[in-house]
Amino acid sequence: MDRAALQLILLGVFLISKQNVDIYSFYINSTVTSRYATTVITSRVANILNESQEIQFEVKIPKNAFISKFRMTIEGKTYDGVVKEKEEAQQQYNQAVSRGQSAGLVKSVGRTLEDFKTSVTVAAFSKVTFELTYEELLKRRLGKYELLINAQPMQPVADFKMDVHIQEKPGISFLEVKGDLSTGDLANAIKTTRADKDAWVTFYPTQDQQTKCKSCGENGLNGDLLVTYDVERRNPKGEVMVSNGYFVHYFAPSDVPRIPKNVVFIIDRSGSMHGRKIDQTRLALLRILSDLDEDDHFGLITFDSEVSLWKRELLKATETNLENARSFVKEISDRGATDINAAVLAGVDMISRHPREGTASILILLTDGDPTTGETNIEKIMANVKEAIGTKFPLYCLGFGYDVNFDFLTKMSLENGGVARRIYEDSDADLQLHGFYDEVAVPLLTDIQLKYPGGTNLTKTSFSLYFNGSEIVVSGQITDNSVESFTTEVIAVSKGSKVTYQDTIMTKDPSDVPPENEDFMQRLWAYLTVKQLLERQVLLKGQEKEDEKKEALKLSLKYQFVTPLTSMVVTKPQEGEVEVADKPKEGEAPPRPPGKDASRRPIRKQNGVIGSGSATSEEVYPSGFELRTPSTSAKIVLTPPAHSSRFLLPVVGQSKPLCFDVPVPYKLRLLQDSASEFSMNGESMTGQNGCRKIAFHYKTNHHLTISTKSIRYHDGQNHVEFLWDQEPTQHNTEDVSLILRSNEIDITMGNICVIILLHKENGDVFLWPAVQQQPKDVKLTGILGEADISYEEIPGSQTTTLKLKDHEVKTSWVMVKDYRLATAPVVGCWLVPFQAVAQRELADFTVTQL
Ligand SMILES: *[C@@H]1O[C@H](CO)[C@@H](O)[C@H](O)[C@H]1NC(C)=O
Ligand SMILES: *[C@@H]1O[C@H](CO)[C@@H](O)[C@H](O)[C@H]1NC(C)=O
Ligand SMILES: *[C@@H]1O[C@H](CO)[C@@H](O)[C@H](O)[C@H]1NC(C)=O
Ligand SMILES: *[C@@H]1O[C@H](CO)[C@@H](O)[C@H](O)[C@H]1NC(C)=O
Repeated sequence: MDRAALQLILLGVFLISKQNVDIYSFYINSTVTSRYATTVITSRVANILNESQEIQFEVKIPKNAFISKFRMTIEGKTYDGVVKEKEEAQQQYNQAVSRGQSAGLVKSVGRTLEDFKTSVTVAAFSKVTFELTYEELLKRRLGKYELLINAQPMQPVADFKMDVHIQEKPGISFLEVKGDLSTGDLANAIKTTRADKDAWVTFYPTQDQQTKCKSCGENGLNGDLLVTYDVERRNPKGEVMVSNGYFVHYFAPSDVPRIPKNVVFIIDRSGSMHGRKIDQTRLALLRILSDLDEDDHFGLITFDSEVSLWKRELLKATETNLENARSFVKEISDRGATDINAAVLAGVDMISRHPREGTASILILLTDGDPTTGETNIEKIMANVKEAIGTKFPLYCLGFGYDVNFDFLTKMSLENGGVARRIYEDSDADLQLHGFYDEVAVPLLTDIQLKYPGGTNLTKTSFSLYFNGSEIVVSGQITDNSVESFTTEVIAVSKGSKVTYQDTIMTKDPSDVPPENEDFMQRLWAYLTVKQLLERQVLLKGQEKEDEKKEALKLSLKYQFVTPLTSMVVTKPQEGEVEVADKPKEGEAPPRPPGKDASRRPIRKQNGVIGSGSATSEEVYPSGFELRTPSTSAKIVLTPPAHSSRFLLPVVGQSKPLCFDVPVPYKLRLLQDSASEFSMNGESMTGQNGCRKIAFHYKTNHHLTISTKSIRYHDGQNHVEFLWDQEPTQHNTEDVSLILRSNEIDITMGNICVIILLHKENGDVFLWPAVQQQPKDVKLTGILGEADISYEEIPGSQTTTLKLKDHEVKTSWVMVKDYRLATAPVVGCWLVPFQAVAQRELADFTVTQL
């Protein structure tokens, strides 16, 4: 796959004030009642400056969760976020933009977490309290529930508390606390207390301890706490709870024998799988083969433009057959195009020819791209596959990386009783693949139907397969609230014979739900209903689709959930200032680089100065690659020219930055100050983001060379070398200071400060320079030397023109990733030709040697 070109965003004139705010208290309070988790994060912050400043609040929440409340309290006044229909919220937001007020979005996407970020201006010596609530239904996977809590308050906090309270009526069978916040010194700060039906986890680290975990540092806590647990299951008919007219039924029997399975793996070996992806796929398949049970049957199909069958028939997982299969897997290598249609149909054919009595059949497709050969019409492929499978067995689709059409995979799996899962391109992709297999490795029941004679407005009640370690959850409303009993019935097939589970509970039993938590079941029902309605959207058309969308919207508004259909509007104390929080759509935004996040320090904005791409000064749109121009609302899709760098410039007195493209590969003079004999040069590579290597020279004797592997410094006499991803360290000489954090190095030479960030993205590792501070009275030159450009917008009907350095240049509004920050947020900029900015040719900035 042709990697999108190198985009450089460089040079924000921004200041990072390290300790102008005091986060004096930070509480995370999570209550889990019957798997439904409600988490409240409360951060209290004081402005300790003698002038007003912008204070930022940024937290990460699980992707699966819906935000349901946000509140700021400043000087005794509260400002509540209000959930509105997306379009309505967007209008409010656009109005704010067109009035020239700062407005922004408050989110971005990671692998398991989403980012919520906002900020507010706080008067001198005043305080602000931020409070965010989110809710989620914990899903049982591989025999356990996981509650993930991220804590990264941005500085050590005097009063830090994390409280988790789990209440499970059937009793808690095990409880474990993991995650990087449970390592090192911090392990001592965790206390767990258990009673029969309750468990409490408290985590109260001292300020000192907060700097001493594996992933923590001078900025305090930075990491996750993962509370895992399971519940007792004495009743194979499941657990039923009734409260205030709603019920929930958890069904997860483990008293049935496993069903032998027929599984066919359909593996993409197209050219785009080249390298680590195909290596990891081979690795995962080898392990999966070892995990097959001897009475399982399996088939292997690989495909590019051709479809290759390992064997024409499904074979029993005997040692000999597995050995042969391993040899086949080891030989899988990447080559041509992607014929998904032919490959899936071959899989369906293979599995259909095999006798199915008393077994469970599963098709697993792994692909990393769009169909590019054979049948490429997605609608036709889906029709073909649906007809061929004919509801006989489920199709699971694993989408590897971000180049897949995940909507298509989701739709195709949902149509065929399966699910789609994204496999993130990362060092653990083989574990993700294997983990997915583990979840479907032990089928216990097929064709499951759940019935509730006294229930209505039910969530999904029919499932093709039930796997050991998972759980089926159905929630609904009670038709007649005055009845005294409630009956559940489950009909399913176990190894070819019908099994029935029937249960009746008394609804007038004293409820175990504490009164302050009474409405949790109603919210649980709403949460599950909205999730399932949204999931079904891809399958539906026309009126039915509209109706279900309306229903999901109605519930989202009623329960104040921030879902893909709604946005939360936060109105700030500053006159008319508005921010909008949206739920990002899974898979549309690029993954965030792992590791430490340099942007998470409190950021202070000054007059007319861009605050490091913070959402308040830039328009950041939810879908990452899609944007609207502020003036026309037209959508433009960002496609930077192949093999070029996109640089971003701050602009004096204007909130919208400029950017320009520079072709690569080149060795470029990034920054130079002749007076202090300072220079910084960078080298880039074709098809790669950022720089591969950056060299600094200062006063003839200082030389610093930074590569993606190491940092080498020579001061004329001594050599030092550091590696990335190590413990924070410092090196100071007379007027050179190097401060190394895991993925970032701060360099000061004389009065010039530069930060180099190490980004890891989609398997690429690259460097990114960010000029932290433009020194006064220094005339910097080089690509990053253009500090104080100003322009005028001359709006036109079709295109916008800028008046820049007395020339008129045509421009378009594009979105780029701001790699000056570890989170690489997407920001908007006016794209202009390089020559218009520099008034010189690019050749003037190339160097022959770093
Ligand atoms: C957490 O929430 C519970 C229930 O709302 C409350 O009783 C408790 O005081 C809270 N704890 C903290 C530290 O806020
Ligand atoms: C803030 O304090 C500094 C010195 O600490 C002083 O120079 C400045 O004038 C003060 N600003 C205001 C607005 O009082
Ligand atoms: C299902 O998983 C449980 C542990 O979670 C295990 O004890 C049981 O044996 C498994 N059942 C089968 C049929 O493998
Ligand atoms: C089911 O939901 C619909 C729409 O939300 C509502 O009008 C109806 O009253 C509900 N049914 C019951 C029995 O509550």
